[in-house]
Amino acid sequence: MTPTDAEIKRQVRTFYNRVGWKEISEGLYQNARYEDLRPIAQEYIHRCHQRVQRYIAPRGRFFLDAGSGPIQYPEYLEYSHGYEKRVCADISHTALIAARQRIGDHGLFAVSDVSRLPFAPEVFDGVVSLHTIHHLPEEDHVSAYLELARVLALGRRAAVVNGWDRSPLMDRLDTLKGWMKTRKGVAFKEMDAEEKEAGTHVVKHDARWLRQALDGRLNYRIRVWRTMSTNVMRFFIRPEWGGRYWLRLLFWLEDRFPRFFGERGLYPLVVIQK
Ligand SMILES: C[S@@+](CC[C@H](N)C(=O)[O-])C[C@H]1O[C@@H](n2cnc3c(N)ncnc32)[C@H](O)[C@@H]1O
Repeated sequence: MTPTDAEIKRQVRTFYNRVGWKEISEGLYQNARYEDLRPIAQEYIHRCHQRVQRYIAPRGRFFLDAGSGPIQYPEYLEYSHGYEKRVCADISHTALIAARQRIGDHGLFAVSDVSRLPFAPEVFDGVVSLHTIHHLPEEDHVSAYLELARVLALGRRAAVVNGWDRSPLMDRLDTLKGWMKTRKGVAFKEMDAEEKEAGTHVVKHDARWLRQALDGRLNYRIRVWRTMSTNVMRFFIRPEWGGRYWLRLLFWLEDRFPRFFGERGLYPLVVIQK
């Protein structure tokens, strides 16, 4: 039997309350298992987090973080530095309690659903929603984008990051990885620490779906947040192969061709302009 939309949301909330936002060490959540936390990947990932900031106004009154989680990475704090208040909206109260510990009086906290935001139109001078819409029931994805646009002030921008269901660039590297593993066998397998993203409801789409869903309804552009999947990064980016330099080159290319990498890499950054 297919779960109803309400059941899906309940499952997602329970997952984040009990598992996703469980601290496995100080400031590090179970959720971070899906990220490449190795030192060699840090600079690239840090710069990708910083990239979000380029697309939103540096100052304003209210800043919305829709699906904020506990504001788990230090770079996230920078996004709302120039704002009076950061409004964290999430269906997980565990996430919001942790977010409140992190930002205290700078924050306002609302247990709420991204596809039905409990805010008046045009009240936010800046909006981000990071890695959240893919957890919604499929029918709610478009309403979530429209809701983010509805609450955004005129002349301002929202930055939305979600993964595509597949990436032509990552598919090629995955094929190469499979081939290398059959040739080198055990040695490569041991170094390929895969972490399957599992645990709760996730539905992702591709760039064509997004265009069909949003064209004519929103003023938006597809740009790149990050090309690399965690699994591909963990396999190919190694110190002995000059991994750090490959990532620097990739980041530079992403900046030069943001639409190309946004559409063909794994993680687009969808910029909504009001
Ligand atoms: C993968 S986490 C991302 C958290 C944070 N944005 C980040 O990038 O670290 C997804 C977050 O979305 C929240 N979420 C899932 N479905 C939601 C919904 N319908 N409305 C609001 N928040 C939701 C989850 O509770 C969780 O905190």
